[in-house]
Amino acid sequence: MAKQLMAAAAVLMIAGMNGPQAQDYPARTVTIIVPFAAGGPADITGRIVADIFNRHLGQKFVVENVGGAGGTIGTLRAAHAAADGYTILSGHLGTNALASAFYPDLGYDPQKDFESIGLTAEYPELLVVRKDFPANNLKEFVAYAKSNASKLNVGHAGLGSVSYIGCLLLNSAIGIKPTLVPFTGTAPVLAAMLGGQIDYECDPVLGTMSQVRAGAVKALAIAANKRSPMLPDVPTSYEQGLPEFDCAPFYGVFVPRGTPQPVIDKLAEALNKGLSEEQVQKRLADLGADIVEPSRRGPKALTDLVRSESARLLPILKAAAEK
Ligand code: MLT
Repeated sequence: MAKQLMAAAAVLMIAGMNGPQAQDYPARTVTIIVPFAAGGPADITGRIVADIFNRHLGQKFVVENVGGAGGTIGTLRAAHAAADGYTILSGHLGTNALASAFYPDLGYDPQKDFESIGLTAEYPELLVVRKDFPANNLKEFVAYAKSNASKLNVGHAGLGSVSYIGCLLLNSAIGIKPTLVPFTGTAPVLAAMLGGQIDYECDPVLGTMSQVRAGAVKALAIAANKRSPMLPDVPTSYEQGLPEFDCAPFYGVFVPRGTPQPVIDKLAEALNKGLSEEQVQKRLADLGADIVEPSRRGPKALTDLVRSESARLLPILKAAAEK
């Protein structure tokens, strides 16, 4: 009898959340976890998402930066949060697809513990070096790095972050093992590079673009097969003969598995509306993003992308890590 009562109560609770409670969503402030330090690509993207939801859902969406361990600390917290739509995650290729390759005991399953809301943006990565680094293009970089690898410090946002993954592909293609220095995000990496403590990093283009333009750091290559309209003078890795350095991570919105469908639908619809706005598209384009076409928006497209990027990149990363 007790068992039957408990089962009935559980059904009522789920029905409650799928019913009027979910219809009222959002009735209070929502936290968006950004699993990296403030000021970097993940944070900038998460704040664009917060602004879209604020405007389209009539509630406060507040970003909380929970950095550490390549974004997995914040992502783990989001995975275990109540599945009620009041904690959501602005994650990316690393946290929500590839992290499992780097942590034997991650504490969450990127594919099983989250529901997708939608893709926000994709940005190609840049190889950026300190201003006085003795190389001005990828060829010179490779020659210098091969002879001086043991002296070089590479900054990244933790094991499994996209800055880590980008430079893993680069370093393994060149065949070097420099010193890897973890930070909680690439905004602090950039600060350390400006201070001369870090020699190079691989970061989505928006992270360093303004310092590249100001001449405070040098960009040697875009890790893609087409140039970025935001930095048209920077040649691609393909043009410079290193196509293995190819990394354009996605950023997307996720909620814990079990979040009621009406909440997922509301968030997905709001994100889609925001991504259709001219002002949002301009802001993303100015940051060097590839704008997400309507056919690639929404929960299913992001779930498919997580799956296909995991299948495509996990073997490549494994091979790169074993080199
Ligand atoms: C950041 O936003 O700090 C980084 O781009 C995150 C990362 O490298 O994955």
